[in-house]
Amino acid sequence: MKIIRSKDALRTLRRSWIFNGERVAVVPTMGALHAGHLSLVEEAKKQADRVIVTIFVNPKQFNNPGDLDNYPRTEEDDAEKLAPYGVDALYAPTPDQIYPEGFATNVRVSGLTEDLEGAHRPGHFDGVATVVSKLFLQSRADVACFGEKDYQQMLLVRRLSKDLDIETEVIGCPTVREEDGLAMSSRNVRLTPEERAIAPALKAEMDRAADAIRRGAEPRVVLDSAKAQIERAGYDAVEYLEMRDAETLAPVKDLTRPARLLAAAMLGDVRLIDNIAI
Ligand code: PAJ
Repeated sequence: MKIIRSKDALRTLRRSWIFNGERVAVVPTMGALHAGHLSLVEEAKKQADRVIVTIFVNPKQFNNPGDLDNYPRTEEDDAEKLAPYGVDALYAPTPDQIYPEGFATNVRVSGLTEDLEGAHRPGHFDGVATVVSKLFLQSRADVACFGEKDYQQMLLVRRLSKDLDIETEVIGCPTVREEDGLAMSSRNVRLTPEERAIAPALKAEMDRAADAIRRGAEPRVVLDSAKAQIERAGYDAVEYLEMRDAETLAPVKDLTRPARLLAAAMLGDVRLIDNIAI
């Protein structure tokens, strides 16, 4: 696995692959890799001849400077974790390769990003959209694998790729979970043992709510009671727990089209998000 720091080196490598008619996949990450990230790498291997994993802790998408400072940076461990997967290149650019002196462009996907995570994390999705556009253009990948764990992010990336005529197809991959149902996340290591024991309540209550809604119960009533249950289980606050259209994220009142339950909640000072199909 080659470790690449500059966009020029990445371009040279990618050109040689495309010259040979090889299909290229990219898996964008911020590092601190866990089994969720590795499942994307496995899918990328199935989709393409060559796989690029990117690691870049993108300052533009952190709306809280403390969160940026605390974000784990574990590149050596990450490279070791990737070794058995047959990844061709690890692209870990220096910041100037993404944001050169004078950088002044912002990519914003409207509609999809204004609500849910967008409402609670101002500027976050502009940062994601801008860096992902750059990573797609720098890698010129045929496909990119994204986790359903960050469902709103996955939809916005699919949208921007279509809207900007970027020929990278976005593939959504299922959320990888711990045995007790907690969605894997780089943030989980910040939970105290007590909080870690409470954490699975989020997914458990979402499952229960989804079942009740499928059986015909009134969604608003079910979701309000699920919120209360999550807080009773020990979460500090549920920021949102909503049923939305699975493609547009517009609010929905019934199950005439595929829908999704999406939630964000604070447990101590850790913010956890999750979503499930309904
Ligand atoms: P990061 O949080 O490192 O996540 C990288 C990718 O891994 C995303 O597509 C995310 O949805 C996926 N992922 C995380 N946890 C997962 C899990 N438990 N199961 C399946 N997939 C999971 O998301 C980002 O980085 C950044 O916003 C990025 C897209 C790299 C732009 O900076």
